[in-house]
Amino acid sequence: MRLVRLVYYSHASREMSLSDLKSILDVARRNNQAQGICGMLSYEQQYFLQALEGERSAVNELYLDIAEDPRHDEITIISYEEIAEPFFKQWKMGYAGGSAEFTKLLQSMGQTEFLPDTMTPQQAFKFLQHLTGNQAEL
Ligand SMILES: Cc1cc2nc3c(=O)[nH]c(=O)nc-3n(C[C@H](O)[C@H](O)[C@H](O)COP(=O)(O)O)c2cc1C
Repeated sequence: MRLVRLVYYSHASREMSLSDLKSILDVARRNNQAQGICGMLSYEQQYFLQALEGERSAVNELYLDIAEDPRHDEITIISYEEIAEPFFKQWKMGYAGGSAEFTKLLQSMGQTEFLPDTMTPQQAFKFLQHLTGNQAEL
């Protein structure tokens, strides 16, 4: 079995409400558990940044489905790599959105706004890793 981590960002087609995010997460958590996929989703300033980890073909297939979702566009892969073990394995899909901690984390990375299109692969992964400690209840 080959395990991979895919990190992408995208731009939401419109401003997402908490209930929009909740409905994405409810489906994600249900499907991901069935597929052995885990990860982390963040949303702020109309950008999504998401990590997907799991068996290579399952992650590839899920990414293709997500990429066709009309709720977002400009979907761009930041990194795709083989991993020895998942980092986000505790989470079928963790979530973090804007909060004081979120802003602090951005500032520590020298960013004032959440602009994942400017992040390097290392920054994007580090950011999602840090966010696991600042998750919102959704
Ligand atoms: C930003 C974003 C992230 C998503 N992440 C996931 C995910 O991790 N897992 C998942 O199954 N669906 C995810 N979705 C939803 C999929 O695009 C799609 O709606 C869903 O897989 C369809 O599932 P269903 O056939 O069970 O209704 C995401 C959608 C968006 C817009």
